[in-house]
Amino acid sequence: MKNKNGKFLYVELADRIQGQIEKGAFRLSEKLPSLRALCQKTGYSMTTVFQAYVELEKRGVVESRHRSGYFIKASLERLRHPPGMQQHEMVPKRVNLDDLIHQLTEDMGSPGILKLGSVAVAPVHLPFKSLHKHLKSIPKKQIANVIAGYAHPQGDARLRQQISNLLFPIIPWISMEDIIVTNGCTDALSLSLKAVSSPQDTVIVESPTDPWLRQTIKDSGMYALEIPTDPHTGLDLQSVERILEQEKIAACFVNPNCQNPLGFIMPDDRKKKLLDLLGNKSIPIIENDVCGDLYFGEHRPNPIKKWDTNGSVLYCSSFSKVLAPGLRVGWVIPGRFKEPVLRMKLNRSLISPTLNQALVANYLKEGTYYRHLRKLRGTIKLQHRYCTAAINKHFPEKIKMTSPSGGQSIWIELPRGVNGREVYYKVKKEGISILPGFLCTSFNIFDEYIRIGYGGEWDKSMEQAIKTIGDIIKSMVKQKNS
Ligand SMILES: Cc1ncc(COP(=O)(O)O)c(C=O)c1O
Repeated sequence: MKNKNGKFLYVELADRIQGQIEKGAFRLSEKLPSLRALCQKTGYSMTTVFQAYVELEKRGVVESRHRSGYFIKASLERLRHPPGMQQHEMVPKRVNLDDLIHQLTEDMGSPGILKLGSVAVAPVHLPFKSLHKHLKSIPKKQIANVIAGYAHPQGDARLRQQISNLLFPIIPWISMEDIIVTNGCTDALSLSLKAVSSPQDTVIVESPTDPWLRQTIKDSGMYALEIPTDPHTGLDLQSVERILEQEKIAACFVNPNCQNPLGFIMPDDRKKKLLDLLGNKSIPIIENDVCGDLYFGEHRPNPIKKWDTNGSVLYCSSFSKVLAPGLRVGWVIPGRFKEPVLRMKLNRSLISPTLNQALVANYLKEGTYYRHLRKLRGTIKLQHRYCTAAINKHFPEKIKMTSPSGGQSIWIELPRGVNGREVYYKVKKEGISILPGFLCTSFNIFDEYIRIGYGGEWDKSMEQAIKTIGDIIKSMVKQKNS
């Protein structure tokens, strides 16, 4: 049986129980309520409760003991011990980015590689049928109109209207005039950076942060000032406060919702405090909300832009994580920096590809986007659970990992002495790509970390890949101890 959102009741119940376990409502190895007790307590049927326990067992969250019932699996302990915040020197630094980043970029496009290193949703989870239908149904005349000429530099007006409609629940005062369409979120971030700062300037970034963002800063000739970042609450605001007293800062990059790689959602009071701290010094915020729709909780997390009353937040996002990265349709809401951002865009590419914009605008008009997002969120959340369960089952005990509030990646601290770069090379020989953590910082604080993405379709090959990575790490531990 399914609930009103189309979710099977046993999955709904399994999610609820797992949520309680993750919050620490049960101790390790504690017995879960009997089937009968849970039926009485929750009102679900005996079959549903039984199926829910079997589901949790499949996820590696509980184990059944013969004639005794269901128990919390000891290895779930890791969920409650995420990696801590790493302290490091806070000085502006040239971004040093290892050449391995190029190999990782190649991995993303290689068909034979199982891509656990990237943050991307599998094609089967995207609404290609609908997109294909719209692609075929664009009349010849409209295609001619769309591709002839240079169109509006801010982007397709219908698309901008649809984007402002989508944002209405979280940033109600945005209009289509505030939006500039870009070639993905990467383009939005890089245009924003160029519009608010100059080479040799210093920008604040989270540590760890996405390596391709670090690449953007590097290529702009700027200094990055990495701020220690808590896996639950985000940028350490005390450090930000201190740095603002000591250094001249041109801008602050922040990825407050479903951050890549840590997966946290920064609490609202901290988002507002960050806006205040930077606002007092007139420092613009470049907000990356590309994974904001992939939250696991009940409500869409707020962007910082929501409270931006003087246009100092440049809000960047795209459809890459939820619709199709290959379309390269993103946008920036640049606030008071509209004029320089638009100028940068004109210098760089004049306009964004018009057919792609028309396709997305037509698809959004159909009105099924929210349904697609709901379904996608459910799928990604489930895949996160399967991935966590597989890691619990196959990785050595002495790891720590995040329990993300959304997004598509798990950040793992490896056993001491196991180097993430070496893990990358070893698993690559087995046809698997992961992201070694050292690429996420200019300090040597994440050498023993890796990021695993769970956005791909979860099947036996994924479980097998996690097992292969786990076995390789175990053998590295053994070698180190021998
Ligand atoms: C945090 C973050 N920002 C930006 C991007 C890039 O987005 P786009 O493909 O729209 O350029 C990614 C993609 O992985 C990402 O994880």
